[in-house]
Amino acid sequence: MRIFLDTANIDEIRQAARLGVISGITTNPSLVAKEKRADMKAVIQEISTIVDGPISAEVLSLEPKAMIEEAREVSLWSPNVVVKIPMSASGLETISILSKEGIKTNLTLCFSLNQALLGAIVGATYVSPFVGRLDDISHDGMQLVGEIVKVFDRYKLPTYVCAASIRHPLHVIEAAKAGAHVATIPYSVLMQMIKHPLTDIGISRFTEDWQSIQKS
Ligand code: E4P
Repeated sequence: MRIFLDTANIDEIRQAARLGVISGITTNPSLVAKEKRADMKAVIQEISTIVDGPISAEVLSLEPKAMIEEAREVSLWSPNVVVKIPMSASGLETISILSKEGIKTNLTLCFSLNQALLGAIVGATYVSPFVGRLDDISHDGMQLVGEIVKVFDRYKLPTYVCAASIRHPLHVIEAAKAGAHVATIPYSVLMQMIKHPLTDIGISRFTEDWQSIQKS
């Protein structure tokens, strides 16, 4: 399973990229706004100087004609841009046109197997089931990830399943077990994945033991 970082924070992206564990980035309008950046194109282009892998950038238009035009424009921002399209009738129409033009897409705000199936049928490169937001309303978000993976496998659909709205390290483990191709995770979750108290204790003990023999 590949790991993408779900952020528009440049410092976080630089730090995570240095570790060599992230294969791509996902952003959304809320994440860009959180960084107090009003120019999404500038943010995406800055990210593309740090990360070689796919970078999801989301369209804001709602009507099909405007959405298609905006998506084509966004796809030109950088060679590794993936155009993030929200689930809707306009979104499906847009993805079906973009996929024929060879433009990569990420169907976002996916909350059901039917939505994911439609996204795959129209040729989305990724579908992003939002695990945490489903959990928030007492639906099992990870169960949806597993169902999508199963159906895509069953029909050999080439669309990648990107587990999104990841809130904690257990979500990452569950996404991997469910067969998600990608989990897009916040920087804080990546840091939590690194840590284990026994590792910290082990490092302290090795250091102390080594220092004690140096003094004797
Ligand atoms: C996915 O690509 C979204 O950017 C993201 O995972 C949304 O997560 P949230 O529900 O924590 O806002």
